[in-house]
Amino acid sequence: MAIERTFSIIKPDAVAKNVIGEIYSRFEKNGLQIIAAKMLHMTREQAEGFYAVHKERPFFKDLVDFMITGPVMMQVLEGEDAIAKNRDLMGATNPKEAAPGTIRADFADSIDANAVHGSDAPETAQQEIAFFFTENELCPRTR
Ligand code: PPS
Repeated sequence: MAIERTFSIIKPDAVAKNVIGEIYSRFEKNGLQIIAAKMLHMTREQAEGFYAVHKERPFFKDLVDFMITGPVMMQVLEGEDAIAKNRDLMGATNPKEAAPGTIRADFADSIDANAVHGSDAPETAQQEIAFFFTENELCPRTR
């Protein structure tokens, strides 16, 4: 399996619940290394830019409104099969459908306040990492 990088956000609801450490622990226990991290209270422009791919979807405004309600913790994760592994750890988008033991099952309240974001494919991972991090801010230990 290939070593991949993925982009992850701990959303305002999970930051407010003080579970950053618990979520980081799940990444690390499952073979994902945090190679960059940044806490940020996004502006509306940043959130709209980040989610531009969803701008025609009916929930776009709600998603942006929610993502600027408070600070988020964003990180780049590296490890074997990192994109799928992170999505497995996150669980389904709607926490009501998330498998027991996943981050969303344990910490998310609703489809709006669903605790975490994770890239869904290699191309989006690359774009999302580059949206918030420069190459100099990445600190890989695997090579
Ligand atoms: S996913 O995770 O990208 O496959 O899910 P998707 O269904 O494509 O949703 C894309 C992002 O939109 C969020 N979302 C919503 N926000 C508010 N209200 C509603 N109804 C809603 N439905 C989906 C979803 O959490 C995804 O956000 P991110 O940050 O990418 O996880």
